[in-house]
Amino acid sequence: MTEIIDGNAVASAIRAELSEAIETLADAGHRPGLATVLMGDDPASQTYVNMKQRDCEEVGIEGTHVDVAGDAPAEELFETIDDLNDDPDVHGYLVQAPVPDHIDYQQVIRRIDPAKDVDGFHPENVGRLVAGDARFRPCTPHGVQKLLEATDVSLEGADVTIVGRSDIVGKPLANLLIQKADDGNATVTVCHSRTENLAAKTRSADVVVAAVGVPELIDGSMIGEDAVVIDVGVNRVDADTEKGYELVGDVDFESTKENARAITPVPGGVGPMTRAMLLYNTVKAASIQTGVDVELP
Ligand SMILES: NC(=O)c1ccc[n+]([C@@H]2O[C@H](COP(=O)([O-])OP(=O)(O)OC[C@H]3O[C@@H](n4cnc5c(N)ncnc54)[C@H](OP(=O)(O)O)[C@@H]3O)[C@@H](O)[C@H]2O)c1
Repeated sequence: MTEIIDGNAVASAIRAELSEAIETLADAGHRPGLATVLMGDDPASQTYVNMKQRDCEEVGIEGTHVDVAGDAPAEELFETIDDLNDDPDVHGYLVQAPVPDHIDYQQVIRRIDPAKDVDGFHPENVGRLVAGDARFRPCTPHGVQKLLEATDVSLEGADVTIVGRSDIVGKPLANLLIQKADDGNATVTVCHSRTENLAAKTRSADVVVAAVGVPELIDGSMIGEDAVVIDVGVNRVDADTEKGYELVGDVDFESTKENARAITPVPGGVGPMTRAMLLYNTVKAASIQTGVDVELP
């Protein structure tokens, strides 16, 4: 029987452990603080930052939010970043992407103090991850690693095919899974839009991770017998629902679940893990900055 990997359950266990670490920090006088910055009023981004703030409240992290007008000059955003870099009560923060067109996102990332970069996107943190000394693992790849751990799949020597090479998912995940480490040691193939014969590369894999942004690109015929399938994709497609759309992954769930040994649903798979791992990075940042040791899940 195919295992449906319950991301909500794994995330909630992680959050429970984080709550304990948060109380240890708070008892020592250092309640972890996470700030979100939103430039402009993109509705999807607003939803994401609201969810992040709600998550903070639920686990006992002090959440703060800063809005910057969408037409403000870059300098105004940089001043906000500099203030957050200097604020000892903010242990981690992020600038919600996408930023307006007149802002250079790479310049934004480089301005963030790498010690507070809980998204893990600053070049210093990317370099540390590649070198096998990660400070903050980017939230989605880290969440995928935790789901694989919960699924009890042995990565040692396993063939993993990742479809997608973005800076936030595919590339960091590939780098994590090839590390000489218990949660690494895989043989990783990274596919993208120029890959030829994608199906052969997914079919031969023990683990397939889809992070593409194309609804149901991967179907059951592209998955080998007994493979583990992690679907990172979140795509809105028109549907006869109250909202007029539904969310589907990059994997065709119904046909894939026939072959797969285990599969994540969308929603309820990777999404809750990404949110949990942002809290994890915030607690880790607070622990490093305050010198208070805590046990992380
Ligand atoms: N659940 C979560 O928490 C979470 C977090 C992050 C992202 N997501 C979702 O994950 C998906 C991917 O996000 P992303 O930010 O990584 O996307 P992205 O930056 O748009 O990257 C997509 C990748 O897929 C590749 N690709 C596109 N079409 C392809 C095709 N037909 N065959 C093979 N490869 C193809 C692209 O190749 P090229 O490089 O050649 O263009 C690119 O490497 C999206 O649905 C996003 O909403 C979910």
